[in-house]
Amino acid sequence: MSSLPIDELIELKQLALNALEQAQTLDALTEVEREYLGKKGSIRSQMRRLGKLDPSQRPIFGKTVNEVAQEVEKILEASRSQLKEAERAEALKAPHFDPTLPGMKAQSGALHPLTLIDWRLDEIFRSMGFYVLDYPEVDSEYYNFEGLNIPADHPARDMQDTFWLTNGKLLRTHTSAGQVRTMQTFKPPFKAIFPGRVFRYESTDASHDHTFHQVEGIYIAKEVSVAHLISSMKTLLSEVFGREVKVRLRPGYFPFVEPGFELDISCLVCGGSGCSVCKQSGWVELLPCGLIHPNVLRAGGLDPDEWQGWAFGLGMSRLVMMRYQIEDIRHLLGGDIRFWSQFTGTGLE
Ligand code: DAH
Repeated sequence: MSSLPIDELIELKQLALNALEQAQTLDALTEVEREYLGKKGSIRSQMRRLGKLDPSQRPIFGKTVNEVAQEVEKILEASRSQLKEAERAEALKAPHFDPTLPGMKAQSGALHPLTLIDWRLDEIFRSMGFYVLDYPEVDSEYYNFEGLNIPADHPARDMQDTFWLTNGKLLRTHTSAGQVRTMQTFKPPFKAIFPGRVFRYESTDASHDHTFHQVEGIYIAKEVSVAHLISSMKTLLSEVFGREVKVRLRPGYFPFVEPGFELDISCLVCGGSGCSVCKQSGWVELLPCGLIHPNVLRAGGLDPDEWQGWAFGLGMSRLVMMRYQIEDIRHLLGGDIRFWSQFTGTGLE
């Protein structure tokens, strides 16, 4: 029967505590844990000695082994959390920016097709001697209707229902609203275009939206002719489309021109065979025009016996649709990213 080896346990505990004190990393701690507290570790394996002890001594020896193990374990856990905390603090101190990672590519935008066409039209018309003017989108009933020979009881008003403001002003229904203003501002002869947004209070479909873009053009001189109007329009359209465009002229009625015409171009989306843009006709109404009505010249302060003029109102939104083969006008101002991501250019190719 051997004597109670409690002293050995105390010694073992001291060894374990020393080892713990030496351990400066989490790995080293784990190693100490394995060495002393693991199943085969030197503290736990003390239990195997129980069988050789006097039965009366077994409880006290077993209890002491457990106490030593618990004490070492407690200190070990305390060191472990201390080391973990230190490691975390160290990691936080390290710089977060890794200059070796690949950079993020900035997404580059593109100009709206309406802007591209607008700029192109400005350029073409400037080269032909036109002023490029900008007028308010909120305008008076006078400039939008009366001054254009469309009095309040005129049936033409039904076709251009609009949004009214509480102060009696309206959202212009067409860029023609700039005609009288221009005549009042500039001394003839002159040529001018005024592009911009216009508004209609009506239901929408593939070729109608409540907000769209037009370009108005007027030419005032002592003598103007329909032939000059047509040749100017043909030059314009060929420039925009980069090729000879087929056109047709039909009589058209607008209160502010006499005679008035509808200039159509053959549909560039379907090539003339018929689609939703051209309402299956093969032709797209693009450009109403005519010789300015004497009443409009008068409203602009010009004597119709002395001055004449021609005018046109080009559907810029339609032109964009033709140019880029867009089948629904609502895409233009719809803001659908999937639609926009197709346009990456920043200039007309
Ligand atoms: N302002 C007209 C519209 O929006 C279009 C128009 C027709 C303009 C004939 C003109 C013109 O200058 O001469 O429906």
